[in-house]
Amino acid sequence: MDATALESEAQAAIAAARDADALEELRLHYLGRKSDLKLALRQVRDRETGIALNAARTAIEAALADREAELAAAAREEQEPFDPTLPGEQLHRGSLHLITQLRRRIEDIFLGMGYEVYDGREVETVWHNFDALNQPEAHPSRDPRDTFYLDAETLLRTHTSPSQIRAMQGQEPPVYLVSLGRTYRRDPLDATHTPVFHQVEGLAVDRGITLADLRGTIELFTSAIFGPRDVRMRTSFFPFTEPSVEFDITCYLCDGSGCPVCKHSGWIEMGGAGVVDPNVFEAVGYDPEEWQGFAFGLGIDRIAFLRHGLPDLRLFWENDLRMVRQF
Ligand code: DAH
Repeated sequence: MDATALESEAQAAIAAARDADALEELRLHYLGRKSDLKLALRQVRDRETGIALNAARTAIEAALADREAELAAAAREEQEPFDPTLPGEQLHRGSLHLITQLRRRIEDIFLGMGYEVYDGREVETVWHNFDALNQPEAHPSRDPRDTFYLDAETLLRTHTSPSQIRAMQGQEPPVYLVSLGRTYRRDPLDATHTPVFHQVEGLAVDRGITLADLRGTIELFTSAIFGPRDVRMRTSFFPFTEPSVEFDITCYLCDGSGCPVCKHSGWIEMGGAGVVDPNVFEAVGYDPEEWQGFAFGLGIDRIAFLRHGLPDLRLFWENDLRMVRQF
């Protein structure tokens, strides 16, 4: 028996079958117990014939299955013809992560004030991250238990402040910039700490800049995000600013009367700021007699976290759809 001839005969018949009954008849005819193929298979004596017959059988089985699927699809189409006027399937629209949304919003606010958005580096030199920012040699934040070092001179930036240094090294004053991005600290992961977080850094360098300009800028920025708020400045210390302040805004939830969000103080801590220390200008080659500046820095995650009353910072990293879809 010629297996190849049998196979092509069967293929042609199967392709021409018009319905399931016809196909069933062909299955019996070609593959049934009494079919030529099955009889031949039973009598096989040599290996080669066996292989050829089995190959024919497999091919016929596949042709039957294919034709069956084709006929079924055609039947479905007939019963339920495609109706282009039906409403489409509901597709889930993606959205930007809450942190990204807030980042972009902050960038927009400062772009609107004529600032440039400066991209800093996440991998920084110890010099940019600490030394040029007037950070004393013995400062605890330099400790390898607090900072991720890659080697003795390189680290993952612990704040966005080194962007100030890089930007000033690359241009002459005046400078008006914000720099936003990831920062890294060896904090144990818990509800209020994540080893990776985001900051926004601001720097303005020009002639005759004072703390009043800083205050006005921060007022504008925080009201753009939270609505009109009072800003309070408290004296503080940062090595890269002199004088240094920490600034708070009246609580956006209770408007200053006291609630759990502001821990009943009426104020929410926003970040640090100050007048750029002359040593910082000297590190980048600016003349501190000629130029003055202010700088500020604050955590983006914290703002988003407070603003939306989230219970746990880890939610920002877990990509739980129930959380992500809310924003
Ligand atoms: N870099 C500081 C931090 O991570 C925040 C900061 C404070 C930035 C004062 C500044 C500043 O630019 O002037 O805690």
